[in-house]
Amino acid sequence: MSLRDRRVQYETAGLDTADLDASPVVQWQRWYDQAAEAEVAEPNAMTVSTIGDDGAPDARVVLVRAADERGFVFFTNYDSTKGRQIDDDPVAAGTFAWLDLHRQVRVRGTVERVGDRESDEYFASRPRDSQIGAWASPQSQPIADRQVLMARVEEATTRFEGLIVPRPPHWGGFRLRPVSVEFWQGRPNRLHDRFRYSRSDGPTGWTIERLAP
Ligand SMILES: Cc1cc2nc3c(=O)[nH]c(=O)nc-3n(C[C@H](O)[C@H](O)[C@H](O)COP(=O)(O)O)c2cc1C
Repeated sequence: MSLRDRRVQYETAGLDTADLDASPVVQWQRWYDQAAEAEVAEPNAMTVSTIGDDGAPDARVVLVRAADERGFVFFTNYDSTKGRQIDDDPVAAGTFAWLDLHRQVRVRGTVERVGDRESDEYFASRPRDSQIGAWASPQSQPIADRQVLMARVEEATTRFEGLIVPRPPHWGGFRLRPVSVEFWQGRPNRLHDRFRYSRSDGPTGWTIERLAP
């Protein structure tokens, strides 16, 4: 079927103000749980968009490892392209697409590094091979070939033989702190439901608006 003619009718139940939790993070957790329950592939995958030094957006997928009222945490190499972009301009957008459920969540906000303890704890929970990989891979740097990478893996494996692999200083978490969060539910005839939470001084700290699809 051509790209032009590919069209899915979204018959899923709608989303109404009464369905929404006062907190976007609680609402996100509900949708995340439903995506996991529905066995959506990588339900914690979030596309993180940052701003490049040329002023243009740059986007890539990461896995969210924690979510609470403070925001959404992912782990990466602080010296990577995204790490440097966040250092220069600590803002980002995060997008979750749960296509099987006809759902999207868009987060906009500021980004900060998580504390060393939080990064240490998560790093310690990773499989040993991933820990070695964090030392071996100069993420986002050009490398001549795969051999270069494998040699670095071997080097790090030897270096840490018989030892607990410590967290590299250039590796850790970022937290995307939401300023706005939009929930999109696909509905028939492209008349989708959209609700945007924005930070406010009110009792819940958020105002909710319905947006036209
Ligand atoms: C499903 C999926 C999950 C990923 N999870 C992560 C992650 O949690 N952290 C990370 O640094 N890169 C992750 N990546 C790789 C990134 O998309 C990206 O290639 C890498 O972080 C380098 O991006 P940068 O050069 O913009 O810094 C993931 C990729 C995919 C497709």
